[in-house]
Order: sequence, then structure tokens, then C-alpha cells
Amino acid sequence: MKKIEITKPDDWHVHFRDNEILKAVVPETTRNFARSIIMPNLIPPILNGKQATAYKKRIEDATPKKDTFKPFMTIYLTEQTDKNELKESFINNAIFAAKLYPAGATTNSGSGVKDIKKIMPVLETMATLGMPLLIHGEVTDQKIDIFDREKVFIETILAFIINELPELKITLEHITTSDSVNFVNEANKNLCASITPHHLALNRNTIFKGGIRPHYFCLPILKREKHRKSLVDAATSGNSKFFLGTDSAPHFVSDKENACGCAGVFNASYSLPILAQIFDNNNALKTLEKFTSINGASHYNLSRNKIKLKLKKNENPLRLRKSLEVNGEKIIIFDPEFSIFWDVALP
Ligand code: NCD
Ligand code: ZN
Repeated sequence: MKKIEITKPDDWHVHFRDNEILKAVVPETTRNFARSIIMPNLIPPILNGKQATAYKKRIEDATPKKDTFKPFMTIYLTEQTDKNELKESFINNAIFAAKLYPAGATTNSGSGVKDIKKIMPVLETMATLGMPLLIHGEVTDQKIDIFDREKVFIETILAFIINELPELKITLEHITTSDSVNFVNEANKNLCASITPHHLALNRNTIFKGGIRPHYFCLPILKREKHRKSLVDAATSGNSKFFLGTDSAPHFVSDKENACGCAGVFNASYSLPILAQIFDNNNALKTLEKFTSINGASHYNLSRNKIKLKLKKNENPLRLRKSLEVNGEKIIIFDPEFSIFWDVALP
């Protein structure tokens, strides 16, 4: 196959940041994606409907006129989140979902939740409303091995939430292990998972190939090859429980190449060519559309996009731009370090 046409994709997990970074990264997403769920981990975080609405306006202002793009806003759950305010914001369509960051689990998660029991009344309200809960699924106990934090989260916290509130619609974000794939497969229909292009493309060896390579450091951290394979199997299977969330997470080079470098990979620019190549390598181009454009929309009870997007396979590999320039600083664009022959074709 040299050309395919798919329903225009959605990115159900993206970090746009704010101000000058926002202006630089938004067009990289809106070019090829119709809709996105926007993560709320700004400094300070988006905590209520009013802040989400103001943030949405800044995103719309940064969206190029030629692109039709709909941002879905989220709030950042804290132990102080007010369930009545949350309910009102959801009913008014100011917010679409709420994100649970265990305190200290990842970039800008300091205001997150320490004790899950404290937010159970809020989660109960969300279950009643049909409002999705998006989860960064890693425990934060520094005694737990960094490669096991997702598994332990599932066994302890996630299992508890599902047991208490089986009717709550949950997305376990950016899953990275075969344990998560199995858990999601076996759980009730309200639990689905997003998967990133970088976790499908690479295993943990990449972080240490020839030295320490901070641009491949993200959270959850890349895992062993057997886990990557299990993610590829889940994504290419067509199973409606798995869909794309890029977790595109821009950071300046100076914050990445640092004695304590930030977690996050900025992959918005070439997510679709990279995914098409991975699906092609696995003889699974037929299920690409399910993963990028259909399964997520079904999970969120949204209609499919009407617009189509064409991808074509070139003779020569794509030459990726290396970085975005923002006010004299650079943001490195994710490079999976294999040849990518697929590219988005002009309509
Ligand atoms: C994200 C970020 O930079 O905001 N970083 C990351 O490594 N994925 C936060 C997150 O989604 O964990
Ligand atoms: Zn994220």
C-alpha cells in the first residue's frame, strides 16, 4: 500500500503549555489532528472551569486560521477540588474531563493527589455525571523501582478506584507495560487506555545508547522490549480499548539537558508518519484508523470526524526537522531513529 485515507485523527492527550511555547506548539498539533484533550499541568495548574475557559481561548487564538481544531479542556484534581464547582463546569461544557496526577509522579504534578481516599467524593460525582477520569498511573513511593511504578499503581490504586466506582469512565493514560495491556483488556468496558508514539517506537535501551540521552526521558519511563511489543500488539489489534494519546510534552533544551532534566518528549510534529510506519512494519495499516481516529471517540461518546486525512508512502525516508525555535530557545522534536517513509499528504 502506497497511499491510505483515514478519518482525521484526534490526539487524546497533549501538553500545550502556555504563552510563547503554546504559540509555537499548537500549530504542530492542529495541522493533522481534529480534536485533542488538553492537559492541565501548567504552573500554576488549571484548577477550575473559569481557568479552563480562559486557557481554551488562548489555544484557539494560537490555532492557525486554516485549521479546524477543537480543544477539550481538563482540570487538574487536587485534594481541594470542589465537587459542586466541577459539576457546574462540566454541565456548562467548560471542562470535559479531570486529570489525576499522583503528587510528585511527573512534570508539574506537585499539587496532585497524595491520598486517593480524599478525592473519592469528587470521583463519585464524576461517575454520576459520566465525566471521564484521566489518570497518570504511577505510584510515587521512591522505594518502588521506577520501572514498576505503573504496575504497582494498577494493583493498588486503580484496582481500588474501579472496585469502588465501576461505572466511572476512566482513561489510563500513556500505558507502557504488558501488565497494563492485560489489566485494561480484562477490566470492565469503562476502562480504556491511551498509548503514545514513543512508547510504541522505542524501548528503554534508547535512553542509554552511547551515553545518557535526556530527550528520550519521559514519564512513565520507556520500558523493556517485551513491553513495547505488547503495546504494539494492543495498538495494532484494533481493540477498541486502546487509542492514541501522543503525550506530546515540550520542554526547552536547557531544561532537558540539565543535571536534573525534565521528563517529556515533544512528538506532535511527526506522530502520524511515525505511527503509520510502525503499523506498516507490523502489517497493520488496516487498523491504523481505529487507533488514531475511532476508538478514542467511541470511548468519549463523541462522533467520528467527518474530514479525512491522506497518508502516502514515499521512496525516500522523511527528513525530520530537528527542533522548534521559541524566543531563541529550542525544543527538540522527537526522532525515533528509524526510517519513516510515510508522510501526511496534502488533501
Ligand atoms: C509530561 C509533561 O512534561 O508535562 N511529561 C512526561 O514525561 N510525559 C507530564 C506527563 O504526562 O507525565
Ligand atoms: Zn502527559
